[in-house]
Amino acid sequence: MNRNDLGRKVARLATNAAVRSPFLWRLFRPLVRRMFDAIAPSWDQMRMEDTFAPFEVALAAVEPKPRKVLDLGTGTGEGAFVLARQLPDAEIVGADLAARMLDQARERTPPELASRVRFERADASALPYADGSFELVTHANMIPFFDEVARVLAPGGQALFAFSSGSTTPIYVPPERMREELERRGFTDFAEFEAGRGVAILARKPQAA
Ligand SMILES: C[S@@+](CC[C@H](N)C(=O)[O-])C[C@H]1O[C@@H](n2cnc3c(N)ncnc32)[C@H](O)[C@@H]1O
Repeated sequence: MNRNDLGRKVARLATNAAVRSPFLWRLFRPLVRRMFDAIAPSWDQMRMEDTFAPFEVALAAVEPKPRKVLDLGTGTGEGAFVLARQLPDAEIVGADLAARMLDQARERTPPELASRVRFERADASALPYADGSFELVTHANMIPFFDEVARVLAPGGQALFAFSSGSTTPIYVPPERMREELERRGFTDFAEFEAGRGVAILARKPQAA
């Protein structure tokens, strides 16, 4: 098995473990962080031309247009840049566990987006943001931590989850499982999208009672 195949297997194993139990994530966290730190310099060369197709299609359906957005597992920042371009009035935070991915993201930030996009080191399983801080929380090929997404989203805010290669994406959670986890936390207004080789899901946190 080569290094890439091993990395894909670790990513899938870590995703399944984290969705099943955030406690298990603690065992995988150092490994996942090291793995993404190591591939940070070559990450952008590995991207397919339609990597963000499902992300963009789902983003176009977000209503009302959010002004505060969190892109979790932002990696080298491409998702954050897509968000900033499609949402010209929004402030975007890109968060990631791997410092070297964030170094690349900061270096790649186009000057015209720099005043609205910032990158911060954070673990999506224990975010350093207050309850209800964001109107949209996005994930592109990122392990979902449902409790934290529900916590940092404002009432009525939306969560977006995109997987660039559908079920063959190393970090992938089937739509029925996503829906089950989100419904358990009160999310509604589910929408599923297919674009390029991938899929995406959009869901809304309920308005406060
Ligand atoms: C497959 S990459 C996707 C990067 C980017 N979203 C893209 O699609 O190009 C997954 C990213 O999530 C980050 N990540 C994994 N687990 C994380 C966690 N618990 N908190 C924050 N970032 C995490 C990794 O460091 C990596 O940069």
